[in-house]
Amino acid sequence: MIPFEDLLWVGYYAALAALVVAGLGLGVLHVLRGRSVATQLVVVGAATVLATISGIVVISLMMILNDHDRTVVLAVVTAAGLVAMAVSVLLGRRLVAANRVLVEAVRADRFRPPAVRLPAELAELSRELDAAYGRLAAAHEREQALEASRRELVAWVSHDLRTPLAGLRAMAEALEDEVVADAGTVHRYHARIRVETERLTEMVDDLFELSRIHAGALRLSRRRVALAELVEEAVAGTEALARAKGVRLRGDVAEGPPVRVDTGELGRALRNLVVNAIRHTPGDGTVQIVGEVGPDEARVTVSDACGGIPADDLPRVFEVAFRGEAARTPGGGAGLGLAIARGIVEAHAGRISVANEGPGCRFEVRLPLTGV
Ligand SMILES: Nc1ncnc2c1ncn2[C@@H]1O[C@H](COP(=O)(O)OP(=O)(O)O)[C@@H](O)[C@H]1O
Ligand SMILES: [Mg+2]
Repeated sequence: MIPFEDLLWVGYYAALAALVVAGLGLGVLHVLRGRSVATQLVVVGAATVLATISGIVVISLMMILNDHDRTVVLAVVTAAGLVAMAVSVLLGRRLVAANRVLVEAVRADRFRPPAVRLPAELAELSRELDAAYGRLAAAHEREQALEASRRELVAWVSHDLRTPLAGLRAMAEALEDEVVADAGTVHRYHARIRVETERLTEMVDDLFELSRIHAGALRLSRRRVALAELVEEAVAGTEALARAKGVRLRGDVAEGPPVRVDTGELGRALRNLVVNAIRHTPGDGTVQIVGEVGPDEARVTVSDACGGIPADDLPRVFEVAFRGEAARTPGGGAGLGLAIARGIVEAHAGRISVANEGPGCRFEVRLPLTGV
């Protein structure tokens, strides 16, 4: 039996020798830190074997082992060490191969997580890469959609602005050349030119607003305001139009806490909804605006008596330049009102939707109250 005290010394010297070798090993690993994991694993294996051997050498110097025993132990440790090294090399190769599979997957056009079983860390990396590629694809899609709508807008501008401009020019030329001379027609032309100019101004203004929305340049300056005030303003701004058409206009807001919105922008969105409702409601019909503030969202609905929007059109009414069949007459709107309304509502982190209901359709705006 070896005395306990000797055993302590053996442990002490063996640990010391192992620490020296481990220190050297760490130094080598530091130098090789840019190299393949396979190489680094071999270094780890070699350092482990060397640490063991150095321990044996140290204690044999202490004369605890005789020559015979030392040779036997060294042989066993060397054999075990060689096997361990071989295992390290094998493991290193597998890691390298797994990594290569991942690299190949990344190089492909569309990342697909490799079907082979990867080590946990690489599998996690693979999942993250998959998610990142998903986000990239979504961003690309969004950009393409934006580009398409931009192209649409340009096509729209060239068509819808040119037509009224051509009309204006024709009328101005007729007046200039005195082709029309009777006072009645001249007056009618002047009035027409004014109306068309106003409409074009509105269109250009809408176009500007829409381009700001699309560019994400809509800066909201929010302030606290009662929902009732917003609805009252929308009613006040459209009352004349309703009266001229013989449409009844009703605003109805329940008591509630104030909302924090950009009153100018949101007022514009509501006005667009109300103007549409009045335009599509026959005389003697009713347009009703209802507002209410719940615990976590405010809701404004605009209901009309338009007779319902065709089912095919329903999902498209908020698209840029979309106009229903009946609205595609010259002098009608440009199909920007609802796209603008949606842009403004979404800039407020809200949602806008439409559904057919009762004698007409109902547009609904929901605005979150939390986090604003
Ligand atoms: N209140 C409504 N009732 C029925 N149809 C509507 C209503 N509001 C919008 N629409 C349909 O949606 C289309 C797009 O509306 P909008 O973007 O405001 O453009 P515009 O009013 O210039 O036509 C309209 O042309 C119409 O077909
Ligand atoms: Mg409109």
